[in-house]
Amino acid sequence: MSATQSLSYEVHGPARLEGSVTLSGAKNSALKLMAAALLATGKTTLHNVPGIADVEIMSDLLRSLGCTVDYENSTQTLSIDVPENPAHRAEYNLVRKLRASINVLGPLLTRLGKAEVALPGGDAIGSRGLDFHIQGLQDLGAQAHSEHGYVIATAPDGLKGANISLNFPSVGATENIMTAAVLARGVTTIDNAAREPDVVDLGEFLKSMGAKIEGLGTSLITITGVSKLQPTTHTTLPDRIVAGTWAFAAVMTQGDITIIGGREDHLELPLEKLVQAGAVITTTSNGFRVKMDRRPHAIDIATLPYPGFPTDLQPMAICLNAIAEGQSMVTENVFEGRFMFVNELKRLGANITVDGHHAAIHGVPVLSGAPVAATDIRAGAGLVLAGLVSEGITIVEDGFHVDRGYTDFAENLRTLGAKVSRITD
Ligand code: UD1
Repeated sequence: MSATQSLSYEVHGPARLEGSVTLSGAKNSALKLMAAALLATGKTTLHNVPGIADVEIMSDLLRSLGCTVDYENSTQTLSIDVPENPAHRAEYNLVRKLRASINVLGPLLTRLGKAEVALPGGDAIGSRGLDFHIQGLQDLGAQAHSEHGYVIATAPDGLKGANISLNFPSVGATENIMTAAVLARGVTTIDNAAREPDVVDLGEFLKSMGAKIEGLGTSLITITGVSKLQPTTHTTLPDRIVAGTWAFAAVMTQGDITIIGGREDHLELPLEKLVQAGAVITTTSNGFRVKMDRRPHAIDIATLPYPGFPTDLQPMAICLNAIAEGQSMVTENVFEGRFMFVNELKRLGANITVDGHHAAIHGVPVLSGAPVAATDIRAGAGLVLAGLVSEGITIVEDGFHVDRGYTDFAENLRTLGAKVSRITD
């Protein structure tokens, strides 16, 4: 990681983006599919897996558990060969780099009757508790607690189906409970379950392994446990957050981008907001096109679990409002730490006042290039977009965050006409 940690994005603005981009598979789906492959002995094959740093970290984590993992960059295909008896302990040195590593907890526990997973790291965007994960596994009959920086869970006699109700539709907790319940005895229900397309993709993957799941994409998921699952082959769904990032980029730069592979049905609210800002969005044969020919109108936004406005696109919404005509309010309801990057954006001349989980934004016609630092994946991508609508040069330091979630980001931007480069020390 040390080489990538000194990586910056150099952005020359202002720019107008025009052309087409092809979407990669969804990071937040691929990582969970990889973890869930642990549920069956043998070789699982995943197509459309993005070549990003987080996939490499998850691959290393699976290798540390005894799996053989191969990635073919040219075909974006990843294979995971899972041994009969994988190790049950996921160590801190790998887990700390990736929030999604907590997703190995459910599969290891339900298959092996025991699991020890270091408390995960990942983006610094909030407190990101694990209480729903732990409570859910306890409801399924496990002994689970956290001790010396690890979640330790045991279920020597296996897990048993239960009715589980989440206080908040947590994506990670829904996934961990679902992947544990597929091999539990009897029926499990998850009420107030997350409805994100990533959760649906994981559920479809589990079904192709032989799991019995109903209600995917709704708030009530029902899982009937089976005794064994088989390895499978699955294609990861396209990345809706990357698609949304390109859509915001088109609107901010008064550009015209066709997003090949983009699913409008996964981005209903964000695209509706962009239309309010003045964009024209049309469906194409293989995706959708976002066109803008004026300065955007300011748009009010409140983040919420799916199908609400995604918190992962909140930085892009703030960046758009920073150069929009008018005033707006962006409210963050999912992660309390997600306004950290606003101070960086203010260095570019944005006029923003943060009060608790509200950001009041007064749009200015143009920003002014300056050095800034990425604080997480999406904030990093947002700051690169802000650089595109700034006069002069913007250096986004700690650009390794961006590489964790976006395949060939600088290359794609150059294809669309921007002057952007990745600089390593
Ligand atoms: C996932 C995504 C992340 C996205 C988020 C919300 C991955 C790797 N990450 O994160 O990009 O922004 O969904 O769409 O898929 N919470 C608790 N206790 C818990 C679990 C969650 O209090 O046990 C809280 C969190 O602190 C947060 C909220 O619930 O405030 C939502 O978190 P959750 O949906 O679990 O997000 P992640 O799965 O971590």
